[in-house]
Amino acid sequence: MRLWGGRFGEDPAELAHRFTASLSVDKRLAEYDIAGSIAHVRMLGKCGILRRDEAQQLAAGLEKVRAALANGEVEFDSASEDIHTEVERLLSREVGELAGKLHTARSRNDQVALDLRLFLRDAIDQAREKTAALQRVLVEMAERHLDVVMPGYTHTQRAQPVLFSQHLMAYFFKFQRDRDRLADCRARVNLCPLGAAALAGTSFPIDPHFVAEQLGFAGLCPNSMDAVSDRDFVAEFLSGAALEMVHLSQLAHEIVLWSTVELGFITLADAWCTGSSIMPQKRNADPAELVRARSGRVFGDLISLLTVLRALPMTYNRDLQEDKESLFDAVDTLCIALEVMKEMLGTSTVNAERIAGALEKGFLTATEVADYLVRKGIPFRQAHGIVGQIVKYCEKQGIGFEQMSLEEWRSFSQEFGPDIAEVISPEGAVQTKRSPGGTAPERVKEQIQQAGELLQG
Ligand code: ARG
Repeated sequence: MRLWGGRFGEDPAELAHRFTASLSVDKRLAEYDIAGSIAHVRMLGKCGILRRDEAQQLAAGLEKVRAALANGEVEFDSASEDIHTEVERLLSREVGELAGKLHTARSRNDQVALDLRLFLRDAIDQAREKTAALQRVLVEMAERHLDVVMPGYTHTQRAQPVLFSQHLMAYFFKFQRDRDRLADCRARVNLCPLGAAALAGTSFPIDPHFVAEQLGFAGLCPNSMDAVSDRDFVAEFLSGAALEMVHLSQLAHEIVLWSTVELGFITLADAWCTGSSIMPQKRNADPAELVRARSGRVFGDLISLLTVLRALPMTYNRDLQEDKESLFDAVDTLCIALEVMKEMLGTSTVNAERIAGALEKGFLTATEVADYLVRKGIPFRQAHGIVGQIVKYCEKQGIGFEQMSLEEWRSFSQEFGPDIAEVISPEGAVQTKRSPGGTAPERVKEQIQQAGELLQG
């Protein structure tokens, strides 16, 4: 079956068909295509463009196709060019020639835009839910381990002590922005393009608001030419998905590091690591490594789509058919990565003693010591120099700050008093970071509370 051909003398070459057909990819849109068509024929009946009985018969036929599809009773015919052709073919098996009236007052150009918007709206809802599930795991972990102090890093070098929960909550807020970005994008996805027809609109007295309402759209695309050429909403989703994959890859990398024997901050559940075929002792964080690697697929999907869109003249061009593989791949990659990270983190064990042990080396409270001198009136630059000398001295002696006697402290500055002992304790240092968003326990608790509210909304 072909939706065109009247003006052609011969059938397309087999290779031409194979090259241009999209059914193998866009069959994934079947349920959305049918839902869109049902809304469309109901509108045609309501507006008197088709007789009511015709519209009813078409809608009933489409419902049958939908049920058959849901029951797995449909075999797609690869001779059909795309899912729109195939649904019409399946419908004609139910209602005969009447199926030919389905396409009144529309084109595949507005139809495919509609299908894609319906698909993406659902996909966004799914991705947002899965993101929230991962965020919930992060908050639960943060709440459970509020007493765990860890080394915070810059340049992958020990920097200052922070709460483990502060580190986890940093990821919470990254994923919150991802979820917000997807919600922003959804608002622009959720507009109905049907009625644009091929590009110019239609002369039939349609009621696009009725179609939009049936399909749950918030409004209509404002310009028919834009409606059939616009794929910005796909590009927006892909860029949001790419950025979310960046965050997932960052978290994945930390899981890889945290679960090494060297750090041992967390232990992954047996169910979430893999062994080695040669080294019996191995427990590898393979799922996290794959999340890290698969971020690249989604970056590629974004670049592919931008390349499809670049320099396209108005309006619909067949190039646009190439939007789907990128979109489907990004949706699938993002959704499974979110699930995997949620499970890996949620089933892991936090090794509080190993994390505490990591505080011992690295002079994590050097900034605190400098700030101590500043409070005694020494300019920060000078204090920084003094503490640098103390660190050098300790390294030479092979000791940490905690092993220094008061006399040793005083040999560097007379300002040091016995209260220096509190200043150099990582727990004490964390307590003092009370600036908004800082790592003091009360500030982290505030973040956890805010997170609870954000997850409700
Ligand atoms: N398979 C096409 C796509 O995915 C459907 C629209 C085809 N329209 C056309 N005029 N050839 O974009």
